[in-house]
Amino acid sequence: MTTTAESLELVQTVEPDIRSLMDTHRERREHWYAHEVVPWEQGRNYRDEPWDESQASVSRPVRTALVLNLLTEDNLPYYHARIAGAFPADSAMAEWSGLWTAEEGQHSIAIRDFLLTSRNCDPRLLEEDRLATVSRGWSIGYTDPVDIFNYTSAQELATRVSHRNAGVKAEDPIAYEVMNRVAVDENHHFIFYRGVTTAMLREAPSLVVRSLRRVLANFSMPGTEIPNFQRRAVEIAKTGIYNLRVHAEQVVQPLIRYWKVADLEGLDGEAAEAQEEIMGITGRLIEQAEKFEARIARRRKA
Ligand SMILES: [Fe+2]
Ligand SMILES: [Fe+2]
Repeated sequence: MTTTAESLELVQTVEPDIRSLMDTHRERREHWYAHEVVPWEQGRNYRDEPWDESQASVSRPVRTALVLNLLTEDNLPYYHARIAGAFPADSAMAEWSGLWTAEEGQHSIAIRDFLLTSRNCDPRLLEEDRLATVSRGWSIGYTDPVDIFNYTSAQELATRVSHRNAGVKAEDPIAYEVMNRVAVDENHHFIFYRGVTTAMLREAPSLVVRSLRRVLANFSMPGTEIPNFQRRAVEIAKTGIYNLRVHAEQVVQPLIRYWKVADLEGLDGEAAEAQEEIMGITGRLIEQAEKFEARIARRRKA
């Protein structure tokens, strides 16, 4: 049996868990309406009053974060294609993919409407960046269905943290509310994906641990195709909205603990090796974070 076939079979085995996680999600999540949060009363005509940076009310690094988060949300067609495409059309995951995509769709609507009404981004540049981003597309880098759940668990948690921190650092009550609503959604989605991984771990720990190593050891957020991604990511890292330390302490470590990776027993040889490697990931990330922080501190001094 190929790895993908084995993984698909595992996903099929946990289909009752997927259904019950989806039911709980439907009960727990209350839909919200972006138009009730966006400050339409601030909106002005860009034809008569073109955008100028002096109109912005949020600091530059936070605006960078808001725009990067928005462009990442704009790539939803690719996330849908990769996730829905990995599962059979009549499966519970096909149903979830539809629901998840519908809910995710509001994120870019809400953030864009906030940025345009509050004049916290250059609208022309934003549209150019969106065109460039979506034309380039995105590949998840994984085709294995188990990898997709593990990657998406980490990615939804990471976006929850990043959206929330951007909202907090904006120091603007409306920006905070918009980003918090989006972050709450990401949390609901995160709970779903994490729950599927938990169920799969119960059924096939060795297979899932091998996948967790693949995903967590080389994790990168979607968005690397966005123009000037590296420069923007560094700016955001310096603000503390999202950086290696946040990734290690608020994403990787909580996941490893939640899934009790250290305590898993009866793993096959390769999975036992993977388990050991996974237990070292947080430490390695923190070391890299310390180097980055020292570099920034030296530059600030100089
Ligand atoms: Fe989202
Ligand atoms: Fe999400």
